[in-house]
Amino acid sequence: MILLNDRLLPEREVSISPDDRGYYFGDGVYEMFRVYGGALFETEAHMRRLERSATATRIALPYAADALRDKLQRLVAAEGIADGTVYVQVTRGAAPRAHAFPAQTPPMLYANAKEAARPLAAMESGITAVTVPDIRWLRCDLKTLNLLPNVLAKQEALDRGADEAILHRDGVVTECSASNVMIVEDGVVLTHPANHLILHGVTRAVVIALLGEIGVPFAEEPFDLTRLADADEVFVTGTTVEVTPIVAIDGRPVADGKRGTVTARLQQAFGRRIGR
Ligand code: PDD
Repeated sequence: MILLNDRLLPEREVSISPDDRGYYFGDGVYEMFRVYGGALFETEAHMRRLERSATATRIALPYAADALRDKLQRLVAAEGIADGTVYVQVTRGAAPRAHAFPAQTPPMLYANAKEAARPLAAMESGITAVTVPDIRWLRCDLKTLNLLPNVLAKQEALDRGADEAILHRDGVVTECSASNVMIVEDGVVLTHPANHLILHGVTRAVVIALLGEIGVPFAEEPFDLTRLADADEVFVTGTTVEVTPIVAIDGRPVADGKRGTVTARLQQAFGRRIGR
């Protein structure tokens, strides 16, 4: 089933106009929610970020957060999802192609729900990464459909035999193609400040709170590629990856090439947080 504006429809009955501005311009915003045990996780944080992305791009959300949450929860129930994801996008609607905003065109909301297991194997054995220049625009804090630089970076990682791309601006690490990145240096966890250069990850915020709970020092501090290469541990955070270690970067192992102790403790705390 698909949620299309206010209707739950079988996928084959969904039709979206080729004039949709999401298709022409990537003129839309989105969110990816996690579902654990049939319930949406960190719903308020995702809703606040969706509202922020919509306000900044001047896209009118068709529903208030409460109404949207109820619709998404109904979609999850209709699909019988236990552990999964809900993808929601809202575009500026359909109108003949012209850059300026169309007058009085209603926004278009589309959402799907998919079953998705937790990435337990990768969380234990880790993933590999390559470093790639961050060529994105200067509002990476907005979750918009314009993901071509992220798509190219991810594909470059795969083409170079790795799993993920760690992005950097002139040598300063920002985030990854679809996750935030943190390092452990002398017992302190560091990550890029939540400014316009990174997405303010919902998982990032959960992890920062968990670091406080388990007593691991943390700082929002930019770090460069040299400190990344010399880090004791590197891990990514994200809705689908949770907390996953990076065990090699640009073909060289991170420390001993195995999941580190801070990463493992964080994963346990995250598991408790989601009732596992
Ligand atoms: N991506 N940074 C980028 C560029 C992202 O695309 C994402 C999430 C994150 C992590 O944010 P969060 O913890 O809120 O998931 C960081 C989603 C999952 C995606 O585009 O599929």
